[in-house]
Amino acid sequence: MITLQVAAACLGAFLIFHIIRVERRIADVPGPFIARFTDWWRVYHYIKGDWGETILWWHQRYGDLIRTGPNRISVGDPLEVPRVYQVKPLLHKGTMYRTLIGWFRGENVAGLEGMVDEVQHANTKRVIASAYSWNAVVGYEPQITYSALELIDNIGKHPVIDINDWIPWWGIDSMNRIAFSSSLGFMKNARDVGRTLEATRKITAGIAYMGAFPTIFMWIAWALSTVIGPSGRLVNLCMGIVNSRLSGKDASEMGHWNGEPILLEKEAMNAKGDLLDAFIKAGKEQPKLFPHSRVIGMTFTTILAGSDTTAYNLSWTIYYLLKNPAYIVRLQEELDRAAQQGELSYPPSLAELSKLPYLEAVIKEGLRYAVLLQMHMERVVPKEGMEICGYSVPGGITVGCISKVIHMNKEVYGEDAERFRPERWLEASPEKLKVMERCGIWFGAGKHTCIGQHFARAKTLKVLSMILMNFNVS
Ligand code: HEM
Repeated sequence: MITLQVAAACLGAFLIFHIIRVERRIADVPGPFIARFTDWWRVYHYIKGDWGETILWWHQRYGDLIRTGPNRISVGDPLEVPRVYQVKPLLHKGTMYRTLIGWFRGENVAGLEGMVDEVQHANTKRVIASAYSWNAVVGYEPQITYSALELIDNIGKHPVIDINDWIPWWGIDSMNRIAFSSSLGFMKNARDVGRTLEATRKITAGIAYMGAFPTIFMWIAWALSTVIGPSGRLVNLCMGIVNSRLSGKDASEMGHWNGEPILLEKEAMNAKGDLLDAFIKAGKEQPKLFPHSRVIGMTFTTILAGSDTTAYNLSWTIYYLLKNPAYIVRLQEELDRAAQQGELSYPPSLAELSKLPYLEAVIKEGLRYAVLLQMHMERVVPKEGMEICGYSVPGGITVGCISKVIHMNKEVYGEDAERFRPERWLEASPEKLKVMERCGIWFGAGKHTCIGQHFARAKTLKVLSMILMNFNVS
């Protein structure tokens, strides 16, 4: 009995000692008292949905470094973005990324986002980077145009549409077509086919909550997958399509998925290839690096990372334009002028659209202002520690930046940073522009920068211009 009491007392003393030791490591970084001891403060604000505003409030009052958990610091100085996401020495991804892994029967099917092994990530990204280059994106233009035309056609056909539905339907149809040359026909059926978007949103919302306790979450997902097979609906869909293609069939020959027909649109779109071709080619050339599970992981995360992101960004950009009619007028004038001068065909090509500076500025401002990612992109400080904002951050501490704080910085983006104003991108001097770009984290920064950013830009250029070319937007 006495031994038990002594053991309990020792354990208690050890725990208290441990908590104090952890708390002391970054004790002089300001932040709410509770964040010194637990990550629940952050999770509470994730659940409440006001994490971005809360952390902005703290930075505006207490400076560039804010403690957000026992081992976590939020970095608010945009000029430190290149250091937090530097490559040499590399700051490894934080544990929250483990929640981005898909599972199939206990096997990890991680794409690039969920890959925590940095060497594997670098090798994988190198092999497939060319499939995401601007040149490659131009090669997928038939798929991009086909989806944009379908959206425009539907906007024209319906007396009233809710863009909060239609743009996400366009987003996922166009991403599926780029990835597999086929789609589930979200726009055709005017609904969330197979509740796929619902599933992707659940995953993204889950990441926010589970990100606080990623290891536990990862084990649960793994354990469930050993029993039920794919760890989610999307992994299931991608697995079916990949297997079908590998056996020489097209996705449509899978027949149905979740009771829904898969539409093969390769010929109708005049598509010359798709991302799955690139993943399968990588699998054949580098089977160790790109095993079957990686091909599924890459397709799964392409749909997950590429559909709702682009749709969300486009919807908000349209919303901000509608709130500021003067910007619509200027954009319309630019498009009309180009069309009158014979520099813009219909449907407009990516090459033509890339020459329109105001359109480009609107898209850039939408990316800066719409702050898609409501979480910190976490990185772990190497064991030797490093200086950030003049403070010596010990090794092993997780640091990260969040768009809501970085993109609202007045020193970098101007006194009116808290306003949507595309003109800032045209007025800035070349030097200032470089700083604005270098500090921006709309597509992340450093080694893990968004590989799909050219797709996002191409899809947005196309749809935004075509909406204005067809309708009187007000
Ligand atoms: C407006 C649209 C988009 C936005 C705002 C966006 C944003 C981001 C951000 C911020 C990251 C970095 C995350 C981090 O470091 O934690 C990222 C990574 C990634 N994105 Fe995007 N993204 C968009 C569209 C796309 C598209 C269309 C695709 C696919 C075609 C895609 C695929 C990826 C992938 C695979 C990664 C992981 C890259 C890596 O770890 O090396 N994204 N994205």
